[in-house]
Amino acid sequence: MREITKRLTRSPEETHQLGLTLARTLNRGDCVALRGDLGSGKTCLTQGLCEGLSVKEYVTSPTFVLINEYAGAAPDGGVLPVYHFDLYRLGDPDELYELGCDDFFYGKGICIVEWANLGGDLIPKEAIEVDLTHEGDRLRQVIITGRAL
Ligand SMILES: Nc1ncnc2c1ncn2[C@@H]1O[C@H](COP(=O)(O)OP(=O)(O)OP(=O)(O)O)[C@@H](O)[C@H]1O
Ligand SMILES: [Mg+2]
Repeated sequence: MREITKRLTRSPEETHQLGLTLARTLNRGDCVALRGDLGSGKTCLTQGLCEGLSVKEYVTSPTFVLINEYAGAAPDGGVLPVYHFDLYRLGDPDELYELGCDDFFYGKGICIVEWANLGGDLIPKEAIEVDLTHEGDRLRQVIITGRAL
């Protein structure tokens, strides 16, 4: 039985903060699969996740590449690689497979995947799923499956 956390956020700052809170529950090897329409807040939540993982670089969605790598920090001070995927422009899951995604998804870093629905079966079954939906101009519903906050 997977835990389910439901939250409503009323501003980008609140979504960012939710990412920060979720980051505190993450461990090496975790994958966060984000789903939601354009502008639903996936990158905003990713920025909060990355801040929570002590990434110092500016986090933005990879535009011409499928994946960005950042250096986060583990609680013990060691380097924690953070892999940020954006599958919006993915033509076919095979492209993701050929990129060697399994090495990232089943490796020792943390993966954050925007438009994870486009990755099909390549997304690990154990991934923490985050579904974001517009509830209005600034209201977003965020449902997190696989992690209790
Ligand atoms: N509660 C909220 N949470 C997050 N973003 C919000 C909220 N209210 C308004 N916004 C606005 O919605 C937009 C969310 O953009 P963001 O890039 O995070 O979405 P996205 O899901 O990554 O979109 P895309 O699929 O285009 O990458 C921003 O312009 C942000 O200011
Ligand atoms: Mg985005």
